[in-house]
Amino acid sequence: MTTITLHPDFRVAPVDRRVFGSFVEHLGRCVYTGVYEPGHETADEHGFRRDVADLTKELGVTMLRYPGGNFVSNYTWEDAVGPVEDRKPFLDLAWRTVEPNLVGTDEFLQYCEREGIEPMMAVNLGTRGIDAAIGLLEYCNGEAGTKWADMRIANGRVEPYGVKLWCLGNEMDGPWQIGHKDAHEYGKLAAATGRAMRQVDPSIELVACGSSSMMMDTFGEWERTVLSYCYDVVDHISMHAYYEEMDGDRGSFLASGTAMSTFIERVVASADAIGAQKRSDKRISISFDEWNVWYLFSRFEGETNLPVQRDAPRIIEDVYSALDAVVVGDLIISLLSHSDRVAVGCLAQLVNVIAPIMTEPDGPAWRQTTFHPFATAARLAQGDALQVKVDAATMATAKHGDVPTVTAAATVDPETGALALFVTNRTSEEQVVTLRHPGATARIDGGSAVLADHEGPREGKDAAESYGMVDALPATHEDGTITLRLAPESWTAFHGT
Ligand code: AHR
Repeated sequence: MTTITLHPDFRVAPVDRRVFGSFVEHLGRCVYTGVYEPGHETADEHGFRRDVADLTKELGVTMLRYPGGNFVSNYTWEDAVGPVEDRKPFLDLAWRTVEPNLVGTDEFLQYCEREGIEPMMAVNLGTRGIDAAIGLLEYCNGEAGTKWADMRIANGRVEPYGVKLWCLGNEMDGPWQIGHKDAHEYGKLAAATGRAMRQVDPSIELVACGSSSMMMDTFGEWERTVLSYCYDVVDHISMHAYYEEMDGDRGSFLASGTAMSTFIERVVASADAIGAQKRSDKRISISFDEWNVWYLFSRFEGETNLPVQRDAPRIIEDVYSALDAVVVGDLIISLLSHSDRVAVGCLAQLVNVIAPIMTEPDGPAWRQTTFHPFATAARLAQGDALQVKVDAATMATAKHGDVPTVTAAATVDPETGALALFVTNRTSEEQVVTLRHPGATARIDGGSAVLADHEGPREGKDAAESYGMVDALPATHEDGTITLRLAPESWTAFHGT
């Protein structure tokens, strides 16, 4: 028998709404023919696709990271500001693509502003360093009267953008990264760059690069060394993780949320160890600024095998299955459960590239299967995350050992009293769950679920959009006990008070 216990007085922390962020990188068709396509029938006067912007709104994205990703590590931001006709294309070495520089900092930040989305910018610590970073920050946030701020004004934007969140490079531990560094080199550079950036604008939040996955040989030692240099300078450390079903190992894939939780807890432990050693009251939080399902090992051949391409090539356009949607829901449970430490999350990426939204150039835009759990959680997870105790049987997995068959996270909105409960059933059987709520404080009014059918990826608009949320199996309330039923291999979002 499975039991979930929760009480509104036992709270983890407020859910930082930035956890429902996503990511726009100059990679493949994320920008060109993704968010931006001037000739498209829905394009606005700035060249951005309205159909994509509307789906982004429906998805509930609160924040967008930009411009990379691996791309940022060889990016010259100055080449992509000012009159478009003066901008020159450059060869992006990360994705071996000719970048036309039609969209740059101003276009992106003004898009965010129009759409009511918070931007998160990354600076290039691969081929560049402090000088380029402080120049870009001044360009974005500086008041009139100094060189870069005046350049922004000359380019038509008077008001500073006030960008708050800044990534100090991207995946600098990865040998594939242009300008890859060891932990000492990166830690020193991140600390020096961060310090200089704070001199330009003390109000910013800074993210140091953590490991690009828990499987990196340097994992742990990287976090320890980097934070020993920049603990006092940064606010967050980044985490990146992509999950996929490998060799038909469905059980391990369904347990991805448990793997994500382990990863978060290890990074938190590494960060807190440095804090303890420094006798610091400060706590570093997590910017999980890339996470998703990505068939990286089974479908992608790697950056170095890409031919040089131009005109927004199709790169890593993964097509998702129903099972992938359940796993995305399970990953969201992990993020919400760690609301005391996870401040930022970015579903990587937003459009076309391992994305919940797909487009055809000069054609339609549509929702992939993974769109649905994200949109549902982004809508319902308001207020504070609650402590949720799950007593469930375990199941053996090849990659993660014994994991719970059921996982859950819950939120309650202190203003409205609205309760949301997110639950994954990782088994192939229907599960009956007793929801214990001491004090008889909870009520479940309904819910919706994503189910993992056994079909493959849903290719194209029609196949993808014939999939969606279904009604949850009805909850029953009897003598103060709530009974929930979970469909086999499903992720369910219940709502109530
Ligand atoms: O999101 C795709 C790529 O994955 C990013 O560019 C990089 O940071 C990560 O390896």
